[in-house]
Amino acid sequence: MPDSNPISTGECVLRATGLQKAFAAPSGRLQIIAGVDLEIRAGESVSIRGSSGSGKTTLLQLLGGLDLADVGEVLVRTPDSGKKVSPHMAIGRGIGFVFQNYQLMPELTALENVALAARIAGASVQVATAAAKELLISVGLGDRLEHPPSRLSGGECQRVAIARALVNRPAVILADEPTGNLDEKTADEIMKLLLGVVADRGTALLLVTHSAEFAGRTQRRLVLSGGRLGSA
Ligand SMILES: Nc1ncnc2c1ncn2[C@@H]1O[C@H](COP(=O)(O)OP(=O)(O)OP(=O)(O)O)[C@@H](O)[C@H]1O
Ligand SMILES: [Mg+2]
Repeated sequence: MPDSNPISTGECVLRATGLQKAFAAPSGRLQIIAGVDLEIRAGESVSIRGSSGSGKTTLLQLLGGLDLADVGEVLVRTPDSGKKVSPHMAIGRGIGFVFQNYQLMPELTALENVALAARIAGASVQVATAAAKELLISVGLGDRLEHPPSRLSGGECQRVAIARALVNRPAVILADEPTGNLDEKTADEIMKLLLGVVADRGTALLLVTHSAEFAGRTQRRLVLSGGRLGSA
């Protein structure tokens, strides 16, 4: 799937302005995100750390259009139009997601899991399958194409999820504790794969992690505390 509008290195691919999000609770409103501004550029790796419950997953969901902010705006660069649109319009195009628990479809093979994301974005069966195969080979799973998630290791499932996140050539990958379920060695391999994607493809990476070591490998390190982002 060729890009009609390639993204230049350093171009802003995601911009959030004045984001706020509160949840209702019996004790009153919980202001989880209290005014977040964030700009991410093509080819940049950025990490967010913060204590459990500080709102990291909530923030990624706002940035990725999986939830709506009470206040503020998010714009994402789409590769095809070259325009910045709100993320719920860019899901599957401007943004790729990687989750801690992989979120693969259990009844589909690795190949079908990746191809499905391309099909949903409008690719034909042939184009989607070819793109999925090429990506699975590039993440080292060329001999696991027909395996469903139940016949893959955790690290292999996460590789499938990364291939799925990449299949529509997003400008940015949002990864929420992608190594949280993995042993040390496998976690290290997944981190290298994600940072390799940034280096080789120019895809921006926003990584939520509890690991100081992995955060230290990203170019820009942020901390979420009191509902606001600050430098680590
Ligand atoms: N839909 C919801 N309704 C009410 N409260 C919510 C909802 N989603 C999240 N919260 C609350 O918002 C806070 C932040 O949750 P979030 O999952 O974003 O934290 P986190 O930083 O990702 O934590 P962890 O590191 O454990 O994954 C928590 O106190 C949580 O209970
Ligand atoms: Mg979380």
